[in-house]
Amino acid sequence: MKSIVILISGRGSNMVSLINAAADGSLPVRVAAVLSNRPDAKGLQIAAAAGIATQVVDHTLFNDRESFDAAMTAAIDSFSPDLVVLAGFMRILSDGFVMHYVGRLINIHPSLLPSFPGLHTHQRALDEGVRIHGCTVHFVTPALDHGPIVVQAAVPVIDGDDAATLAARVLTQEHRIYPLAVRWFAEGRLRLNGGRVELDAPQDHASSLISPQAAG
Ligand code: GAR
Repeated sequence: MKSIVILISGRGSNMVSLINAAADGSLPVRVAAVLSNRPDAKGLQIAAAAGIATQVVDHTLFNDRESFDAAMTAAIDSFSPDLVVLAGFMRILSDGFVMHYVGRLINIHPSLLPSFPGLHTHQRALDEGVRIHGCTVHFVTPALDHGPIVVQAAVPVIDGDDAATLAARVLTQEHRIYPLAVRWFAEGRLRLNGGRVELDAPQDHASSLISPQAAG
């Protein structure tokens, strides 16, 4: 069975969706560890309570990004994961870190990339007046919130939405597509080849653009 390491910075709800899917057998991976750059990340306690190894690499203790990334790399590699899963890990990564894990580093972002990389994606979507918003799982490349797209889920923007209601609608879909993408990887159906995503004919989903109605 393939193993994953999950990196978080905060509450860890995407982490929980992966841990739960691994526990109920719908996601055939072993969660080897949950790592965080923040000692106060709420998700660390949840992971520890689930019996998963946790480790903190506190970015405030390092002088520069490269030395933090080197320490984080050493921590990750001590668990020899097949896949590194960024789940609300709010640090910009050095090119060296990203290249070390090329093809085995994925991220989830709360927008339909390439629209709205960075922060405050839901408010920015509302400010632009988009009618369709969503989330994206992608392989990580050196550019922030950028890289070959694995799967997206779209949600409508509804009259009267504010950033909180829209975020909640998107988060529900994040919790669907992240376990799905990790499952594809774990089953050997998903890979990065020459900078492009290859996904072997999924039997359970006809496409990797998912709307709430279509997602099963
Ligand atoms: C999620 O919405 C995730 O998509 C986002 O942070 C949140 C973490 O929530 N990630 C990014 O914005 C990355 N650029 P969680 O800790 O409850 O999973």
